[in-house]
Amino acid sequence: MFHMGWFMGTGFGVYNWNQRWSGNVSQDVGNPQLFVDMATSLERAGFSYMMLEDSSVLPNVHRGTFESSVKNGGTIRFDPVPLIPFLTAATKHIGIVATISTSFYHPFMAARLFSTLDHVTNGRVGMNLVTSSNKSAMQNYGLKDLIPHDERYARANEWVDVVKALWDSWDEDAVLMDEVNGVFADHTKVHTVDFEGKYYRSRGPLNTIPGPQRHPVICQAGGSDVGREFGARNADTIIAAVKGVEEMKAYRDDVSERMIALGRDPKDVKVLFLISPVLADSKAEAEEKNAAMLKASAANIDAQVAGFSYFTSTDWSKYDYDAPFPDLSKNEGHQSTMNDFARSGATIREAVTNHRTQESVPLIGTPESIAEEMGEYMEYAGGDGFLIAKPVTRQNITEIADGLAPALRKRGLIRPSYEHSTFRDNLLAY
Ligand SMILES: Cc1cc2nc3c(=O)[nH]c(=O)nc-3n(C[C@H](O)[C@H](O)[C@H](O)COP(=O)(O)O)c2cc1C
Repeated sequence: MFHMGWFMGTGFGVYNWNQRWSGNVSQDVGNPQLFVDMATSLERAGFSYMMLEDSSVLPNVHRGTFESSVKNGGTIRFDPVPLIPFLTAATKHIGIVATISTSFYHPFMAARLFSTLDHVTNGRVGMNLVTSSNKSAMQNYGLKDLIPHDERYARANEWVDVVKALWDSWDEDAVLMDEVNGVFADHTKVHTVDFEGKYYRSRGPLNTIPGPQRHPVICQAGGSDVGREFGARNADTIIAAVKGVEEMKAYRDDVSERMIALGRDPKDVKVLFLISPVLADSKAEAEEKNAAMLKASAANIDAQVAGFSYFTSTDWSKYDYDAPFPDLSKNEGHQSTMNDFARSGATIREAVTNHRTQESVPLIGTPESIAEEMGEYMEYAGGDGFLIAKPVTRQNITEIADGLAPALRKRGLIRPSYEHSTFRDNLLAY
C-alpha cells in the first residue's frame, strides 16, 4: 500500500479562473467551501493529506510589472493557516499540511501556533517547511535582500531545533487534570528551553500544553543538496518533483542513505512524488485531452515563463524562448528545479510546451490503466506514494476521488480505511 496526497499548487488561492469546469470561481475565491468539499471527497478516497502551498509575495519581476501576477489571479494567496480548522471540522481522518516559512516565522510563534492547531484539529495538522526563495517576499518582512540559499537552510535547521525543543518543554506526564486535588499540571515537569543558537534565541516553555501529536507532522520539498539534507534530518514526509521512475528511485534511495547517516530509520520518512494524471473513459480520449492541455499552455507561453521569473527572481522575458535554458544553477532561488531543465537541453519553449513541470511520471489513460501504472512505478521506485498536482476544481476532485482512488483501492494499493486517529500515526502506519 502507498499514500496519496494532494499538492494544492496555488495554496488557498485562485484556481483556473475563467476556464471551463472551474465552477463559480467568483463565489469560491477566499471562501473555504470549495476546499471543505475537497477535504471530504479526499477523505472518502482514503487520502493521507492535503498540502497547501504558500508564498508571501505578489511578484513583479516578469517584464517589471504585476500584470502576469494578477491578470489570471494565479499568484493571489490567502494565508492558508486560518483555513485549516474549516477542513478538519468537516472531516475525521485526513491530515492538513500548511506551508510555513522558516525565514519569516519566529520559531516560538510557529511552535505555539502549531501546538494550538494540533489541539484544534485533534492531531491532524502538519507544516510544510520552506525557506522562501524570493527577494520581494524577504522585503515584505523588512529584510533588505535574499538570505543566501545555503544559509537559509542552516537557519532552518536551527529553527526546527528550537520549535521541537519548545514542543518538548512540557514532559509527557506534565498535564494531570487532577480534579480531586485541584492540580491541572505538575509545575516540576514544565521547563524553560533557554535556546541560544547562531540565529535564534528562545526562553520557553510554551504556554500551550502538548497536543495529540505532540510534534505536528513536518513536510519538506527542497531538492538541492542542503535541501535534501534538511529533509532527511527533520521531515516526516518529503514531496518531490523529479523526472522519471529512475530519478524517483534514486531520490528515495538518497533520502534513505542520508537518514541512515543521520541515525534515523528510513521508514520514518514518507517520500511522495508529484503526478498530474490525465483521466478519461478511454486511452485515446485521455491522449486527446492531454494534447489539448499542452496546446493551451503553449498558446499561453508568457504566463508559464512568468513562473520561471518568479522562481529565480530573474526577468525571463529578456531570454530568447527558442534558445536553450539559461544556466541559473547558482541562482539563490529554487536551484534544483532550474537545474533539471538546464540538464535536459530543452529550449524554454520546449520545456513549457512538452513538460508539465509538476509530474514525476506522465500518466494518461483510464482510472484502471493509471492505477496499474502507479502500482508498478511505486513497486520499482520504492517510494511511499503520490501527490496529485492538479488545479483544485470540482471536476478534477471527482475524477481523482471517485474515479482513480476506487481503482487504486480495488488493487489493494491504497488504504481501505484509516486505522488511527492522528495524522502522524496514519502516515507512519505503512
Ligand atoms: C512539491 C513542491 C512544493 C513546494 N511548495 C512550496 C511552497 O509552498 N512555498 C515555497 O516557497 N516553496 C515551495 N517549494 C519549493 C521548495 O521549498 C524548494 O525551495 C525548491 O524545491 C527548491 O529546492 P531547494 O530549496 O533545495 O533549492 C515547493 C517545491 C516542491 C517540489
